[in-house]
Amino acid sequence: MANRHILRRGMTIGLSVTAMAIGSTAIAAPTKGTVSVLNWWTSGSEAKSMNILEQMLADQGYKMVNDAVSGGGGSNARTVLKSRIQSGNLPGVAQIKGPQIQQWCNTGLTMNIDPVAEKGNWNQVLPEAVSKYMKCDGHYVAVPFNIHRTNWLWINKSVLDKAGAQMPTDWDSLVAALKKIKQAGITPIAGGGNTWQVATELDAIALAAGGPDFYRKAFVDLDPDALSSDAMIKSLQHLRTIQQYTDPNAQGLSWNHDTGEVVQGEAGMQIMGDWAKGEITNADATPGKEIACIAFPGAYTGYSYQSDSFEMFAHSNSDKNAQYAFARTALSPEFQRKFNKAKGSIPVRQDVSLEGFDACAHKAKKDFITAKKNDALVPTFSQDMAETGAVKGAIFDVIAKFYNNKDMSAEDAAKEMAHRVQQAQAMS
Ligand code: BGC
Repeated sequence: MANRHILRRGMTIGLSVTAMAIGSTAIAAPTKGTVSVLNWWTSGSEAKSMNILEQMLADQGYKMVNDAVSGGGGSNARTVLKSRIQSGNLPGVAQIKGPQIQQWCNTGLTMNIDPVAEKGNWNQVLPEAVSKYMKCDGHYVAVPFNIHRTNWLWINKSVLDKAGAQMPTDWDSLVAALKKIKQAGITPIAGGGNTWQVATELDAIALAAGGPDFYRKAFVDLDPDALSSDAMIKSLQHLRTIQQYTDPNAQGLSWNHDTGEVVQGEAGMQIMGDWAKGEITNADATPGKEIACIAFPGAYTGYSYQSDSFEMFAHSNSDKNAQYAFARTALSPEFQRKFNKAKGSIPVRQDVSLEGFDACAHKAKKDFITAKKNDALVPTFSQDMAETGAVKGAIFDVIAKFYNNKDMSAEDAAKEMAHRVQQAQAMS
């Protein structure tokens, strides 16, 4: 495929195994081996979750170097990964999701971890919706940690009460609740307004307004008719309404800051994936009690999912046995329980119990199973699960343009999205 060639060409400039070995950062000799992990988990709950792995590896005699690059959604981390490849300083493991796993595999730089996968029965314990992304030419090259759901709405119940508003059940009752919260002098929606956050909002809105079939046609199949359809126009109009209830002075604030505002009752709601739940728990609030979790309400129900996963690199600055230990430990039942409780996600292993998890995790699991049965499970576009980088970039550009220009109509934005996506596909 043409885009693979461009990527392969772009990423292999100046790269030979020798060059990489020369350029690699030397890491102090560990007891059994060292693995460096490039990731974007820097919020309180994210760092705590990663520390669990660092500790479990240390208990087995391995050293994990946590190369965390800040920036929700990972765009900074992805840029750093590309520049490290150019300079021949490959991390042993990098956080990479969805179709990008395949793209990286096409560079020829990734490492086969079949021996770990076979021993750990990964084909049996992982859902196919996730395991299919972890393989390249039938071989495992990445390990998944979790299942996150994107289309959640987090609601501070005491703010609702204070405003005399009802728990929303559909789009109209959501707007009615937002109006009451505003009248009560509280920010209705916490939203930092950076493009990744806005795209995450549109992601939830589009699934609720247009349904899983529309979502798949638009964001997975990239069908121009779906991208410019009435359902897309409606979704963009709903995003504009949400924008009107978002604090305009919050521009530039991070997603975890926004979650904090909801926990503190400074804002009523946040549209965000369940990594927000990790922050809620970290702030000593109980998801499902003080902070309600509901699927973003609308005409349709569905489940937009993603799995945080880590791809392995060969000829990196890490030891192979430590990379294997990383993969093995990440999918151990003990890590799956500890990590996912702290992170806000649910275990990706289907055979791990949710005993002791909060009510929202139980809802997530139940809804995942129902959505799978009803063909309402969709890979989430805003979190890299549906499309490759160039197409995502085109969609994000149009979202940013629409959000930052209140005079742009939803009709024009939908048309432009269809056009830009076609262009991005043609050029890749
Ligand atoms: C990741 C989450 C992470 C969030 C914010 C998402 O794309 O999948 O694990 O917590 O970004 O950084």
